[in-house]
Amino acid sequence: MTDNSVAFKALIAQCKAQVESALDHWLPAADATPETLHRAMRYSALAGGKYVRPLLVYSTGQALGVTRDALDGPACAIELIHSYSLVHDDLPAMDDDDLRRGKPTCHRAFDEATAILTGDALQSLAFHILASDPSIAVAATQRIQMIEALANASGSLGMAGGQAIDLEADGKGNSMTLEALEYMHAQKTGALIRASVRLGALSHASINETMLAHLDQYAANIGLAFQIRDDILDIEASTDTLGKSQGADIARNKPTYPALLGLDGAKQKALQLHEVALENLATFGDEANALRWISEYIVQRPN
Ligand code: IPE
Ligand code: IPE
Ligand code: MG
Ligand code: MG
Ligand code: MG
Repeated sequence: MTDNSVAFKALIAQCKAQVESALDHWLPAADATPETLHRAMRYSALAGGKYVRPLLVYSTGQALGVTRDALDGPACAIELIHSYSLVHDDLPAMDDDDLRRGKPTCHRAFDEATAILTGDALQSLAFHILASDPSIAVAATQRIQMIEALANASGSLGMAGGQAIDLEADGKGNSMTLEALEYMHAQKTGALIRASVRLGALSHASINETMLAHLDQYAANIGLAFQIRDDILDIEASTDTLGKSQGADIARNKPTYPALLGLDGAKQKALQLHEVALENLATFGDEANALRWISEYIVQRPN
């Protein structure tokens, strides 16, 4: 287990370095006109997040034998959509948060209009990369499937839809049904996690449907577990460790897994999802070990 953790930490560091260098390449220079917007885009996208979604892209690619270079574009694309979603999530009209990744939120460091445009532009850049990156080594029809997967996961039947349900549920505390809560979590967070795995899989020139289906089930389970852990950490972790304001959900009486099931119930649910996610990978050998580690990491992560 210790050896595994050391290897996993090395993998995280490697993926972080690789995706940061690729993001640096794709993001317009901070002194390119309009400077404020480009500075804000870099401020938000290179703020030192955990890069879980790029890690999933690289690790899915690794499980299928895809070369690292072919995965840089998809890894950047998904991280840019995620960063955009956080910039907007923190806006006063949404969660109204002041701290993100240990720094002032985009609208605090710049201003609200700039934060709105930053989200818009990060989103467009993500699709630009998927459409144009010469290192994506698949046929044009499959590249279009990648673009479609990212669009679906980002839109009103994915992340943006989940965020809309989340906002409508503000103040509803534990009055939401478990079924509705699961749907909201699966959309607002699960959809981009699933898209990360799908993009990694679609980076393989001839991915087979059965493998894709197993990977998708794995991703759906860890995606839900990821938001459950986020809800637990909002209660248990400190603002310092989180790099974002602790207690934000309780302050807004948000429906969360701990609100509905209690802390222990939420933890148990996350562990169950982790176990099912491992079963979903049963047909894979050691080449999928990074995916197994990520699932464990998701339910145990400290921030
Ligand atoms: C936070 O995502 C928001 C959720 C979807 C729960 P992360 O926990 O992945 O945030 P960063 O990218 O590491 O900052
Ligand atoms: C955010 O959920 C999910 C998305 C940004 C799509 P939260 O509102 O719980 O995320 P944090 O806790 O602010 O990171
Ligand atoms: Mg939110
Ligand atoms: Mg939030
Ligand atoms: Mg949260």
